[in-house]
Amino acid sequence: MAGTPQRVALSSELLLTIERLGKDFGNFTAVQEVSLTVRRGELKAIIGPNGAGKTTLFNMLSGQLKPSRGRTVYRGEDITAAPAHVLAHCGIGRSFQITTVFRGLSVLENVRIAVQSLRHRHYDFMSRAHALDLTRERAGQVLDNIGLTEYRDAPAASLSHGDQRRLEIGIVLATDPELLLLDEPTAGMSREEAIATMELLRRIAEDRTVLFVEHNMEFVMGIAQTIVVMQSGTVIAEGSPAEIRADPQVRRAYLGNLYE
Ligand SMILES: Nc1ncnc2c1ncn2[C@@H]1O[C@H](COP(=O)(O)OP(=O)(O)OP(=O)(O)O)[C@@H](O)[C@H]1O
Ligand SMILES: [Mg+2]
Repeated sequence: MAGTPQRVALSSELLLTIERLGKDFGNFTAVQEVSLTVRRGELKAIIGPNGAGKTTLFNMLSGQLKPSRGRTVYRGEDITAAPAHVLAHCGIGRSFQITTVFRGLSVLENVRIAVQSLRHRHYDFMSRAHALDLTRERAGQVLDNIGLTEYRDAPAASLSHGDQRRLEIGIVLATDPELLLLDEPTAGMSREEAIATMELLRRIAEDRTVLFVEHNMEFVMGIAQTIVVMQSGTVIAEGSPAEIRADPQVRRAYLGNLYE
């Protein structure tokens, strides 16, 4: 059936394998050909200049865009053609570069809706009251985890920008994903907010796999185990933070004089 993941050979360590994935918009190639792997438990960053194709790659991985070529295998299943809602049910959670909280709803409601979105089917087998209790409990745990419990009843719009970004991470966590795809989690944050978010991401990565796009190099170098560098729709380097800092091509393409 179209859109249903098909089973292929299972690998015990690799959670995600991206094989020569590409995306064209008309005559324009946003992602030429990207191949990379993500191991279970890995905390991996994707960096690169504006327009390198990072968000387009995420859009393909989370089912917002259909790839023009290539293949994605997740937990041994070919998910290349799977739509976003199927991927969410498979354990791939995604946040966006632009803040996407429901501004008029409370902080708790934002998380509660996310919990419910994926739990609905299980909860059909329980009493309504029990399902509601479980949803609230889970939403409360997520708010504790992201440090927003004191604002639970406040409208999301009243939060600072940094707290709204943390709420977005909470919304992703609420769906209990195995793999989180976070697009610029610290975009627009103050340095203090970015440091707090780095701590949060570290904690999340203790029991989940995280692939994130980020321009804040202090954040990337301080937290990522591996860094993938994209430029003009391709991967130009991959390595540890120390290797990436020392790579002449990466310095030319992106890091410039940051690490003289
Ligand atoms: N829907 C679309 N239609 C046409 N072109 C697009 C579309 N989406 C992205 N592009 C183009 O594809 C290229 C890659 O964009 P993308 O958003 O993936 O870059 P990025 O690496 O995320 O950049 P940034 O760091 O600025 O977020 C850009 O030139 C962009 O203008
Ligand atoms: Mg982007």
